[in-house]
Amino acid sequence: MITGHFPVAQLNAIPTPFYYYDMDILRETLHVLTHEVTEPNWHVHYAVKACATEAILRTIANSGVGADCVSGGEVKAAIEAGFPTDKIVFAGVAKTDDEIRYALTQHIFCFNVESTEELTVINDIAHELNLTARVCLRVNPNIDAHTHAKITTGLKENKFGISISALPSAVEMACLLHNIDFLGLHFHIGSQITDMAPFAQLAQRINQLVEDIENLPCKPVVQHINVGGGLGILYEHPNHFPIPNFKAYFDTWRQHLHLRPDQHLHCELGRSVVAQCGNLMTRVLYVKRGDNKQFAIVDAGMNDLIRPALYGAFHRVENLTHPDDDEQLYDIVGPVCESSDVFVENYAISHVQRGDLLAMRSAGAYGEIMASQYNLRRLPGHVISDTLK
Ligand code: LLP
Repeated sequence: MITGHFPVAQLNAIPTPFYYYDMDILRETLHVLTHEVTEPNWHVHYAVKACATEAILRTIANSGVGADCVSGGEVKAAIEAGFPTDKIVFAGVAKTDDEIRYALTQHIFCFNVESTEELTVINDIAHELNLTARVCLRVNPNIDAHTHAKITTGLKENKFGISISALPSAVEMACLLHNIDFLGLHFHIGSQITDMAPFAQLAQRINQLVEDIENLPCKPVVQHINVGGGLGILYEHPNHFPIPNFKAYFDTWRQHLHLRPDQHLHCELGRSVVAQCGNLMTRVLYVKRGDNKQFAIVDAGMNDLIRPALYGAFHRVENLTHPDDDEQLYDIVGPVCESSDVFVENYAISHVQRGDLLAMRSAGAYGEIMASQYNLRRLPGHVISDTLK
């Protein structure tokens, strides 16, 4: 079995389970990402929801990209990690009054607004504070991202955004409200998208929408276009393809989106930035032989990494203690009292023994941040590779 580069001796001394972040991979990913975007009016915002571990946020902020936040807590964490406030965008279907007030007083770049109801509330709060809120309207473009049903967001039946039919009146309203500065449009069609066709389709829809909107009687200018996030990674191949295909992603916008020189393009990438640098480290507690299968029962559970249980997501598992033994088939399961606490079934991995250290790969995005204390287990915590050097 080919495994990634892990300082196994050092990791072995740390109580499991914990997340291990390989900062070299993160830095390399950021290097490739930031060098791929050469246009001065293109802006990448890291989607903080994917992983908000402080060292990760600081490293990303240092690379010069902005932040995409979905709660007051995320806005605060982003500011504390060093993201300039004028590079912060704030989305979410249900921003509270307190969150809106906080973001306004921090002078963030822009609110991605999901309804006319929200627009009115933001206008009122901005009025109270004698401020102007910069706003992009989030449009539900009704595009199928062909990804997992639970992480697709751009279809009519989703709760997100303003429908295309309601958009003209929402824009007219944004233009009329005194404490709202209408900047443009925001989109997000889903996550873990590895085929560029849905993004190309979105670009074409945006071209048409911009034309329609700019012809409205109030003559709005769509100066900012935010295409959201969604670029996927290769969960099967963290060792061969640790860096996502940013080139294909940005080339899709170059090719299909008709941007004027005065228009700005924004994107909000989460998973593709952090997934491959993170691993959930766990130890084998028991190897149990059933009637027709064997279980490797590990000390990490669905509370530490919920993606397999929640979405049926696949994470490659590597045996770091015995990487070169003959492979056998196992169900790798956790200790939580739920039958859905299964990481992977019938999985071929080097012969597993009690005490072996396993790495669940590609777990940097939506891993640690989605951990819970279910069964009153402790939160997994993390180790940053730089601190081991
Ligand atoms: N922008 C918006 C408005 C979003 O809703 C999301 C993710 C992103 C950007 C970042 O998308 P990304 O580049 O990471 O695909 N917990 C799920 C993923 C949920 C994604 C939610 N929205 C998972 O573990 O697969």
